[in-house]
Amino acid sequence: MAEELTPETPEETETEEQAIKQRKNGLYPGVSDELAENMKSGWADTELHGLEPIAQAGHTAARRAALSARFPGERLVIPAGNLKTRSNDTEYAFRASTEYAYLTGDQTQDGVLVLEPTADGHEATIYLLPRSNRENGEFWLDGQGELWVGRRHSLAEAEQLLGVPAKDVRELAAALKEATGPVRAVRGHDAGIEAALTDKVTAERDEELRVFLSEARLVKDAFEVAELEKACASTARGFEDVVKVLDKAEATSERYIEGTFFLRARVEGNDIGYGSICAAGPHATTLHWVRNDGDVRSGDLLLLDAGVETTELYTADITRTLPINGRYTELQRKIYDAVYEAQEAGIAAVKPGAAYRDFHDAAQRVLAEKLVEWGLVEGPVERVLELGLQRRWTLHGTGHMLGMDVHDCAAARTEMYVDTTLEPGMCLTVEPGLYFQADDLTVPEEYRGIGVRIEDDILVTEDGNRNLSEALPRRADEVEAWMAALKG
Ligand code: GLY
Ligand code: MN
Ligand code: MN
Repeated sequence: MAEELTPETPEETETEEQAIKQRKNGLYPGVSDELAENMKSGWADTELHGLEPIAQAGHTAARRAALSARFPGERLVIPAGNLKTRSNDTEYAFRASTEYAYLTGDQTQDGVLVLEPTADGHEATIYLLPRSNRENGEFWLDGQGELWVGRRHSLAEAEQLLGVPAKDVRELAAALKEATGPVRAVRGHDAGIEAALTDKVTAERDEELRVFLSEARLVKDAFEVAELEKACASTARGFEDVVKVLDKAEATSERYIEGTFFLRARVEGNDIGYGSICAAGPHATTLHWVRNDGDVRSGDLLLLDAGVETTELYTADITRTLPINGRYTELQRKIYDAVYEAQEAGIAAVKPGAAYRDFHDAAQRVLAEKLVEWGLVEGPVERVLELGLQRRWTLHGTGHMLGMDVHDCAAARTEMYVDTTLEPGMCLTVEPGLYFQADDLTVPEEYRGIGVRIEDDILVTEDGNRNLSEALPRRADEVEAWMAALKG
């Protein structure tokens, strides 16, 4: 049995000087004793009582129970991560680690979930920074004091909200160092916690924990499905926003599209789930075009690949390839229709019991048939598929798991992911594309610089699938009608 994780005498982890370290930007060059004394008092008690648990508290408890069952007798440490410095005292926006948010529903920087082994499972504790101390001045003199960055939940409030006992995270590193018994940690988020565990963990055992948490997310629970629905609904509204301002994008650049979609993501969700790909004209042939600094021209296509991440950190991943002036040219439409047909074949292959690879194979077959039909590659189709010759223009896999991460469950083992069969509750993208590079001399000139991808988010159901992103039209004539209606 592992030793109880509370040190008998909590170590002093911070000196008084550290606690009230002054910002170096000169705003507080000195604090008189009178002012320091004055700032200690005169503040109302704002403690919140009787808080309801967060909506997913039941789900996070079930997820922790599954984790506990997989690693009996071992201490498990799952950090949220820390702020990353951009320069001086400016930080990048914080986004909690997927593993931590999945298991707690919390998104607080520096938070750490610890599952402490007990006789019959584990006891979960969440370690958080408590409310700022007013006695030693940290609340207004420290850059992470609440006066600077906003009110935090007290530990008692966090306990009520998350349904897990909460303790002061500043005591955790020392306690982990002292504790004995087997331990595993999720790496890559919190260097301080990793340093405390450095002699106690191995990369191999930690990887098993990461793999488990990736595989645990392959099948979404009801809360997660509802979040993915929200993400798709917000994303659909973001795409509509973009269509309405295409004239402004033409007058400026792809950045207008990026900014427009970002506004929707920040107002309705937490963020964008990945860098928006706002690729006009030949940029559509660059798979991850996120510079978004190009011209937007009438007559060209716009490949928009973007997703809103909800406040609970679930993202959509949707692509539409739109005619900037509202009408596809004949050739654009021919290519678009081929990709649409491939996507239809791919979506039809998403059902419980099907092999994961089926939807990719189905879509690739359609695209290979079209490329042979157009004379771009010599048939027969079986030869093309066997040699993978279509890949010069199809470039990427036809989809991936979707969830809290856009490429979700990425650490899952091959046998649990690409070599598995689909189950109800899995959610994946189906996103075939055709890309004719501007400098591809093997295709007729008029094809060069055209890129088309159509991407939807498909939930495997008991009897087939449900397209979570169906609010956005896909068929060429429906896309044109939708754009015409939005442009008014
Ligand atoms: N947006 C990246 C992808 O579609 O996978
Ligand atoms: Mn995708
Ligand atoms: Mn995408």
